[in-house]
Amino acid sequence: MTTVRKAVIPVAGLGTRVLPASKAIPKEMLPVVDKPVIQHVVEEAIKAGIKEIVLVTRSGKSAIEDHFDSHYELEHQLESKNKTGILNSVRNIVPSDVTIISVRQPEAKGLGHAVYCAAQAVNNEPFVVILPDVLVNNFQQHENDLQKMVKAFEQHNAAQIMVESVPQNMVHLYGIADCNGIKPSAGESTAINAMVEKPKTEEAPSDLAVVGRYVLPARVMELLADTKPGAGGEIQLTDALDELLREQTVEAYRMTGKTYDCGNKLGFLQANVAYGLQHPETAEGFRQFLAQQD
Ligand code: G1P
Repeated sequence: MTTVRKAVIPVAGLGTRVLPASKAIPKEMLPVVDKPVIQHVVEEAIKAGIKEIVLVTRSGKSAIEDHFDSHYELEHQLESKNKTGILNSVRNIVPSDVTIISVRQPEAKGLGHAVYCAAQAVNNEPFVVILPDVLVNNFQQHENDLQKMVKAFEQHNAAQIMVESVPQNMVHLYGIADCNGIKPSAGESTAINAMVEKPKTEEAPSDLAVVGRYVLPARVMELLADTKPGAGGEIQLTDALDELLREQTVEAYRMTGKTYDCGNKLGFLQANVAYGLQHPETAEGFRQFLAQQD
């Protein structure tokens, strides 16, 4: 089987849940400690072995592309002042063997449509999809969940969809996987029977929610080409995956890390606390500060 080298990251959303912060800058550029959310996500992909990243973007979001580009004046200034540490942090955001390109999503027609906009760039290879609102924190683990999913994809020859248990009253916010009543242990995968996007609580087949990490075969792009609008009138990736599992094995991978949904205010704050308590420059002072709060 071909190794997984490509990732699609849809970044064309309007960020309405974090307004007004995201009025003039993309929500993906809001910082979690010292890096924008999108950089955390790109680093996760690179750790999982990804070499080509396709951003699916739209007008008004060029700050994301600029962030991964070189900044000649800034680098020159830092170099002449011998600020090597800071220089390295801005110059080496992605290693030289990783490329980042962008394609446009001309209309907001849903996640499935956004992913399909990258079809030409993915060019008939397996690929990862990462929803950048969700940060997956694997703390000090040697391998991150995405790495484990890529390995499972290559070993089992089956698509991997990251899931986690969510409270019953939240199933209507997610894609939900029906795994025949089986709940895989953390770090394990099990076959999916059916998938449904944002079901009503009483109709949800399980509490296993799709979290925003997928490792998919090239076939998904062909299925997306024919996927009709579904939940919310949008072209849903979940619907294409529900088609895929009728043809080949698709597995739910139960995550081991923690997730933070930076697309909403509370999740964004929680991410900053969790990451701030881990960052070598802020951990100690931040812990003391938090201990003093009422
Ligand atoms: C999207 C997907 C959904 C998934 C969710 C995870 O929904 O369509 O299947 O569970 O992301 O965050 P959205 O949150 O964009 O409505």
